[in-house]
Amino acid sequence: MIDDLDRIMAVMETAFEPHWGEAWNRRQVSDSLRFPNTYYRLVDQAGATPEGEMPAAGFTLVRAAPGEEELLLIAVDPDCRGHGLGGELLRLFAEDARTRGAEKVFLEMRSNNPAQSLYLANGFEPIGRRRDYYRLSDGTRIDAITFGKTL
Ligand SMILES: CC(C)(COP(=O)(O)OP(=O)(O)OC[C@H]1O[C@@H](n2cnc3c(N)ncnc32)[C@H](O)[C@@H]1OP(=O)(O)O)[C@@H](O)C(=O)NCCC(=O)NCCS
Repeated sequence: MIDDLDRIMAVMETAFEPHWGEAWNRRQVSDSLRFPNTYYRLVDQAGATPEGEMPAAGFTLVRAAPGEEELLLIAVDPDCRGHGLGGELLRLFAEDARTRGAEKVFLEMRSNNPAQSLYLANGFEPIGRRRDYYRLSDGTRIDAITFGKTL
């Protein structure tokens, strides 16, 4: 029987290019979900929550703090991209955060991630840059950009 951790990991394994070292392993995801302030969302190909044995097409992982929530990960299966699922996951992220009492949401990405056009199109604004924040396995350093959105 498929569970939500299986669903998250199935998307994780196809969605992230290994080069960037952004994917989390199963242990990292399950450990993070033990914290009561960490949440996830799953969508199927139609944008609904998958049920029964249905796999997920995308997921988000979110950490809440008083008044604000951070998007830790967002991913959509490569076969399901370009149909609005990433935008729907961002919309659900903001809606869930507001329901839980947050006034602001934010996220951080490597500065060369094409996902930034998705964030800009969904009302997120760049609010900060951390120089050389990420380090790749070959030693290359890449800036992190923080995006924020007031709810
Ligand atoms: C970012 C991501 C979730 C977007 O999912 P999606 O379902 O394709 O999103 P949508 O269909 O709602 O929006 C598509 C938009 O995403 C943007 N985009 C994001 N990544 C892109 C990529 N690799 N190539 C092209 N466009 C990309 C484009 O602006 C695109 O808009 P367009 O279709 O008008 O050109 C998906 O590309 C992904 O899983 N990427 C790998 C994981 C990742 O880098 N996550 C972010 C850091 S945690």
